Amino acid sequence: MSDKDVAFISGAVRMYRERRGWYRSVCNVFMVGEKSRMEMRVMINVKELVDLENATQAKKIFWDQDIYDQEQERIFGRSWLFLTHDSLIPKNGDFVMSRMGEDKVIVSRQKDGSVEAFINSCSHRGNQVCHADSGNAKAFTCNYHGWVFGQNGDLVDVPLDTLCYHDNLKKAELGLRKVRVESYKGLIFGNMDPDAISLEEYLGDMCWFLDTILVGAGGGMELMGPPLRSVLDCNWKVPAENFVGDGYHVGWTHAAALQILGGPLAGLAGNRADMPYDDLGKQFTTRHGHGFGAINDAVTSIHPENEEYADFMAETRGVVAENLGTPREELYMSHWNCTIFPNCSFLYGTNTFKIWHPIGPGKIEVWTYTLVHKDLDIDVKRSIQRQAIRTFGTAGTLESDDGENMSTCTDSNRGFVTRKGRMNSTMGINREGRHPDFPGIVGASFIGETSYRGFYRFWAEIMDAPDWEAIKVQNDNWDEIWRGSEFWSDK
Ligand code: FES
Ligand SMILES: [Fe+2]
Repeated sequence: MSDKDVAFISGAVRMYRERRGWYRSVCNVFMVGEKSRMEMRVMINVKELVDLENATQAKKIFWDQDIYDQEQERIFGRSWLFLTHDSLIPKNGDFVMSRMGEDKVIVSRQKDGSVEAFINSCSHRGNQVCHADSGNAKAFTCNYHGWVFGQNGDLVDVPLDTLCYHDNLKKAELGLRKVRVESYKGLIFGNMDPDAISLEEYLGDMCWFLDTILVGAGGGMELMGPPLRSVLDCNWKVPAENFVGDGYHVGWTHAAALQILGGPLAGLAGNRADMPYDDLGKQFTTRHGHGFGAINDAVTSIHPENEEYADFMAETRGVVAENLGTPREELYMSHWNCTIFPNCSFLYGTNTFKIWHPIGPGKIEVWTYTLVHKDLDIDVKRSIQRQAIRTFGTAGTLESDDGENMSTCTDSNRGFVTRKGRMNSTMGINREGRHPDFPGIVGASFIGETSYRGFYRFWAEIMDAPDWEAIKVQNDNWDEIWRGSEFWSDK
């Protein structure tokens, strides 16, 4: 072969290699398939969606399908998600149905008292193996071909195993897909990611705050179920951000309802100019996006006529002061609007506990429980439950006020020009920082957006991070945007 031939062949090989690379990169962008979809999702510029410095978010975070898909993978596939409470599955064999993102999950109490959770989809052809919302069962039998799964999700029996499968079926490998389960003082959470940090690490400083109510005067809290369920046409983040830090809307959106309810919160109705807003409470945000707003001395505010409840709180606050100290005694007597990132929210004082289950970018299923002190008499619990349903149940007065705003926030941001705009969460910026009495970052007023900013700070972080290792690396820097603040040290 001549030198000319060799040069020609190696040139052709080089050209083939270059074109193969170009062809592959074109395929990666345009090819319709799971791999290319994943690669395109990872290309979402999260930093452009959340501007931490100026406290704005792109309007498309509420409706964009690609953002939603990435949330399913990176938030709902990796965060600790609330499943149920100990009080709802007290006995061996008790189970409830729950959801983790769009995955349906069975949560089941085991013989030894532990809790297992597994995906409600048969390992044979994917049918739902349990259709009941709750109950007591030793096993779950699929109604398509009759495969039987034990109360821990293992495959224990298969019809015609010998006659038709000739004992070749690998039953040990065909249990229902298990979910990691851990609990914190009665609250049971699940996680799909084996590499995620522990639940206690995930809750972090929020444990310090949660102990105020989950331990309280000793008995702590429990949930009354079964949950009320309703469908709302909104993105899951709209109610999550509302509960984490929207004290601002209370006096305006709920003005009429608050006036009818009476009690201490009625003073907020209509955003009166004579209210000392800075002295009414505070806002808190912690690592991993959890946060809440607290209104001082308002724990029984939506129950103005419930004297037994007021007496119980007055009798138990001294124990909390003794065990946990004055700052937490004050929180024990406050009303809280709280979100445990991403989609578990509650109002302590209003006694509602909600999970915002996403079912698409513009739709959620709302599950509403009643949150009560375990040591209350059952009659007092029932009266609190009735009032919680009247206010924040599916057709509750305050729930109805909120629902319309949540749908409209999701829908109105789709317009071709509107979608290019940004949302603002700057209230209270520079009036927040490290506080001598509380962990996390503390905002000056419960009417502020400190915990909004904390929620979206972590939303952006987890959406961007390839894995939990990358999130852990940020542990020492997570509060960077608040570092320069001397707000509380100047007080
Ligand atoms: S799909 Fe469940 S047994 Fe066939
Ligand atoms: Fe509200």
